[in-house]
Amino acid sequence: MTRVFVAGGAGYIGSHTVKKLIKEGFEVLIFDNFSTGRKELVLGGKLIIGDLMDKESIRKALKSEKIEAVLHFASLIQVGESYCDPKKYYTHNIISCLNLLEAMLEAGISNFIFSSSAAVYGIPQQIPIPESHSLNPFNPYGQTKLFIEKILQDYENAYGLRFISLRYFNAAGADPDGQLGEMHEPETHLIPNILLFLLGKKKAFELFGTDFPTPDGTAIRDYIHVTDLAEAHVLALQSLLHSSKSEFINLGTNKGHSVLEVIKKVEELTGRKVDYKEKEKRKGDVPILLASKEKAERVLGWKLLYSDIKTIIETAWTWHKKTRKTAKN
Ligand code: UFG
Repeated sequence: MTRVFVAGGAGYIGSHTVKKLIKEGFEVLIFDNFSTGRKELVLGGKLIIGDLMDKESIRKALKSEKIEAVLHFASLIQVGESYCDPKKYYTHNIISCLNLLEAMLEAGISNFIFSSSAAVYGIPQQIPIPESHSLNPFNPYGQTKLFIEKILQDYENAYGLRFISLRYFNAAGADPDGQLGEMHEPETHLIPNILLFLLGKKKAFELFGTDFPTPDGTAIRDYIHVTDLAEAHVLALQSLLHSSKSEFINLGTNKGHSVLEVIKKVEELTGRKVDYKEKEKRKGDVPILLASKEKAERVLGWKLLYSDIKTIIETAWTWHKKTRKTAKN
């Protein structure tokens, strides 16, 4: 059995990927400090509670078992917060990743799957965005992802690290079996915020930015179902374990939806009215992000199964109705 180490395996995308990895026959070691991860999202695998800022605890965990590859999901992810508190983002995201890479190399592990982001591109010069697009992050969060991508390339050249950096567009939706879903605290993402408002868990739903240069003035994003993202990780891991080539790969759908379109779709699918308050755009938000998915399909053989906006909203709605009855806001 191939044993893999999943940093941040108790988080939103991490937990969906752990579920798929176990289904595909991998033995999974989850490493999480539960700062944003949740115990209820750990359904299987062996759990080590540890912090990536503590190099010793990573070393110990990596040396405790024979591990073939590391998947790294653990990072701070709020674009707006990164703008207001860049120190927190540069310190945490970069140092924790450096610690993990150092401990991996010491343990002789050379396969690495990295959770990167569409935020590395900045304001698109070309739509859909290919992986060859220029890299000009528009916010500190995106900068941290880009710095790490540069570090990975240098570590490949110097130390023989092999990696696949997966550039996620907007992860959304929930496990179609209803076992897992999105539970950020605080929640900042669009779809869960609309649903939490409908469930009475948020006092108001605020629409950030109505003067973007888009047809309806609201920002357009490429929403990708978390189960399709999880599948891409398994395919990337299998590809890395069987070939030697490092890659940067977009994970998106090539289809975009504006914030107003998402609101309308939620209204249609839930039968409830979404009252919203119009607010200034958030710092660091770009007008449009839309992925070219050609490389993921070609290199990984990836096929989208759940990423239509209807399935995304329906699976998220089922999850939020089930879990948020008792959860604190
Ligand atoms: N939005 C609202 N109200 C909300 C939440 C969001 O109007 O309550 C708007 C945002 O301003 C933005 C759009 O909905 O225009 C999408 O916002 P999200 O917060 O859901 O997602 P982002 O595009 O800001 O960021 C997400 C991830 C990042 C990743 C990026 C890549 O959080 O980690 O997608 O596309 F980098």
